Amino acid sequence: MSAPRKLYIKTYGCQMNVYDSERMAEALGGQGYVETQTPDDADMILLNTCHIREKAAEKVYSELGRFKALKAANPDLKIGVAGCVAQAEGQEIMRRQPLVDLVVGPQSYHRLPQLEARARAGEKALDTDFPEDDKFETLRHRPKAARGPTAFLTVQEGCDKFCAFCVVPYTRGAEVSRPATRILEEARDLVERGVREITLLGQNVNAYHGSGDGGDWSLARLIRALAEIDGLERIRFTTSHPNDMSDDLIAAHGDCAKLMPYLHLPVQSGSDRILKRMNRSHTAEQYLRLIERIRAARPDILLSGDFIVGFPEETEADFEDTLALIRAVEYGQAYSFKYSTRPGTPAAERPQLDEEVKTDRLYRLQALLTEQQRRIQDSMVGREVSVLFERSGRHEGQMVGKSEYLHAVHVEDAVRGGIEPTGQIARVRIIGSGTNSLSGVLV
Ligand code: SAH
Ligand code: SF4
Ligand code: F3S
Repeated sequence: MSAPRKLYIKTYGCQMNVYDSERMAEALGGQGYVETQTPDDADMILLNTCHIREKAAEKVYSELGRFKALKAANPDLKIGVAGCVAQAEGQEIMRRQPLVDLVVGPQSYHRLPQLEARARAGEKALDTDFPEDDKFETLRHRPKAARGPTAFLTVQEGCDKFCAFCVVPYTRGAEVSRPATRILEEARDLVERGVREITLLGQNVNAYHGSGDGGDWSLARLIRALAEIDGLERIRFTTSHPNDMSDDLIAAHGDCAKLMPYLHLPVQSGSDRILKRMNRSHTAEQYLRLIERIRAARPDILLSGDFIVGFPEETEADFEDTLALIRAVEYGQAYSFKYSTRPGTPAAERPQLDEEVKTDRLYRLQALLTEQQRRIQDSMVGREVSVLFERSGRHEGQMVGKSEYLHAVHVEDAVRGGIEPTGQIARVRIIGSGTNSLSGVLV
């Protein structure tokens, strides 16, 4: 019997790419590939790429260049590009980097076995279609191997919102929701294999509206059905759009015990003028009122956001509106970026701000956000939280997990207290707050 072929996948970008990389490994698993953690001994290298900002896209080409020596040493090595750069640039990738044998867009992963065979036969294989058949339906031949306590589960893909800065509607296509029955089936399977916490994923996850028993399913209905699964202890979802935060979803944050008190709700800017130019279709005030309603349902919820500074035409006054919104909300977690021009998007055609202005604003924005995150993290000291343990820590007997608020928590006496192996949930009293994590003791 010949040795199995080795597959090395490197994942960039968002959590949906992480989920997709698992699906690609499964699809090629059927072709006799096993995953390896290094490109050095691989028979196939797949880069699962991100196109969201210029830097992310350029990284791909520098990474590809590094595989030259590997390909020279092993002419049978096949190199593939998947993900959003594959979708956006297609054939251009092979022209710019002839080492590439295969290019596959995010909606065609179920066709990987055929594409791999073509690449093996010496062809250049390209597939950037948006096929009718569902990539998730044909990728259900998953192995029943045990796995860690947390998992991602994509429930919705694509986006119809067309924010003026964003490539996602072009790289991932139109919004599509998976059927609720399939998602519940996949969740039960994950739980049987050891998963305790599931994060539901979608570019606009709260716009989810899937088919299922008894008609149309909203995300809130899906969450309530998932909460019925024995052994599944925690549910999260990301990323949400403010305009799709429906009453039933807000209510679920108040009355569904398994839904964790953490919400990533990007706003991008606090200036109505800029929000309008971004095509976000809500005002700063509407966002703040929404946050009030969410906090009324779940007062201890930890809020997270995304921000873009230096969008075309952003003035100092617009930027200060963003700082004011941040002060009003108080974020426990945040991601912030300088606006990056993306080919094909409306904002790329507009006059751009100076790089120094963007850098200065990002610095000031991040200083404020860091201060807020710090304050909220420090305020956990003395409180009791529940921790889902995910791995051993660096110290003897120490274990590390996440609180319901998604803070990393180190517990020194975990093993002594009977927390082992991973996947257990325990009450922990927080006794310290470090740079990026909390420390606690078992209650
Ligand atoms: N669907 C999500 C976000 C997906 S992209 C939502 O609507 O909130 C993740 C984040 O990347 C965005 O929230 C935005 O803050 C950032 N982003 C997207 N396009 C960008 C660009 N052209 N330049 C800088 N940041 C960008
Ligand atoms: Fe991009 Fe806007 Fe869609 Fe989010 S809602 S994926 S930022 S277009
Ligand atoms: Fe990047 Fe595509 Fe995700 S552009 S953020 S990998 S949807």
